[in-house]
Amino acid sequence: MANELMVDNILDQGVLDAQAIKNDFPIFKEVKQDPFVYLDSAASSQRPYSVIKSMDDYYRQTHANVHRGVYRIAEQATNLYENARCHLGKFLGAPHPELEIVFTKNATEAFNLFAQGYGRKFLSPRDVVLITKMEHHANIVPWMILKEQIGFELRFLDFDDDGQLILDDIEEKLKGVKILGVTMASNVLGTINPVKELTQMAHSVGAVVIADGAQYSPHFTTNVKDLGVDAYCTTAHKMLGPTGIGALWAKRSILQEMYPFLGGGEMIQNVTTEGFTTNDIPHKFEAGTPPIAEAVGLDAALTYLEGVSLTAIRAHELSLLTYAMDLMEERFGSRIKVFGPRDPKKRSGVISFELEGVHPHDVSQILDQEGVCVRAGHHCAKPLMTSLNVPATARASFYLYNTEEDVEALVAALERTEDFFK
Ligand code: ALA
Repeated sequence: MANELMVDNILDQGVLDAQAIKNDFPIFKEVKQDPFVYLDSAASSQRPYSVIKSMDDYYRQTHANVHRGVYRIAEQATNLYENARCHLGKFLGAPHPELEIVFTKNATEAFNLFAQGYGRKFLSPRDVVLITKMEHHANIVPWMILKEQIGFELRFLDFDDDGQLILDDIEEKLKGVKILGVTMASNVLGTINPVKELTQMAHSVGAVVIADGAQYSPHFTTNVKDLGVDAYCTTAHKMLGPTGIGALWAKRSILQEMYPFLGGGEMIQNVTTEGFTTNDIPHKFEAGTPPIAEAVGLDAALTYLEGVSLTAIRAHELSLLTYAMDLMEERFGSRIKVFGPRDPKKRSGVISFELEGVHPHDVSQILDQEGVCVRAGHHCAKPLMTSLNVPATARASFYLYNTEEDVEALVAALERTEDFFK
């Protein structure tokens, strides 16, 4: 509530100049396409000059492997890498930023690390893992793989017609649960889930909670301590950073208990012909040469986001979302179906929709001819598609560089799509 009041104030003040922000992103000048309307940031965001430059500078001036050399640039590279870890930890509100962030390839790898590191150690065939039907495959398939390995019940929470989790029978659903995995914000419906409340309920039955922040931390202020969750996954490429780097945050006590996931250099303290001992956290989970330049880019991306402020970003996206939903309703009425919560304040800046009589892939293709980029498909959320009873949706998603003109271009292109298929 307090957060939404702040958002309203910022909306009134109109503090975010999206057009000026767009000028910070070279892709909007360099893509040889006019118009170029990018509405697929939920799949991957674009990068500002500062991120690209930080990685270029790093490769030109500092590159060496980390945690190995004692010469100057190796120490500088190590410092840059560890600074990025601390920065991400602080950005997520971690109590011990230097110890609790494990860098991974992406959010998907972070889920696999948690499933194999924590789940494999602590789950038995009698236990239950509870997830929701609106999860991305990244928070479904690792549990299915683990279930095949050790056996347990994988249970699902349903959602209603407004895209809200059904919690009437939550006490029943939580019986026997050892791990609850839940998305902070659905990549299809946009639903912002009550993760703090769910975590309190899960903790009351002794379960641990892992949250999927891939669609949340790029758009909302995140504080894992306040949420109370035990683990949290995120990725850099959806928050202005490079591809190839994501992270698992988990409480120090949990990371200390977890099995290592990938074996090799860096993650060990000692290796003999008899066996090995593991390095301290978080290095115990970072086998091999890590994504160093990517960490540098992520650090710059976080600095950019903080410079704009997550509160202003959320306010801006909420304003665009409201404008887009109203305009779509006005122009198409019941000929367009928007999935997820009807109240924009209950959702993040994604709009998944169905245009009557036109397949989502055709929508996306015609929009592309109009210069508008949206994603079409199952969005790596097939159980969710089954619940919606659709094979696919088209999805437009907003970020800090999108403008009202982008929304108008989307709606105009949809009108031409409708005409084309008449
Ligand atoms: N998970 C990303 C999406 O929703 C790729 O598009």
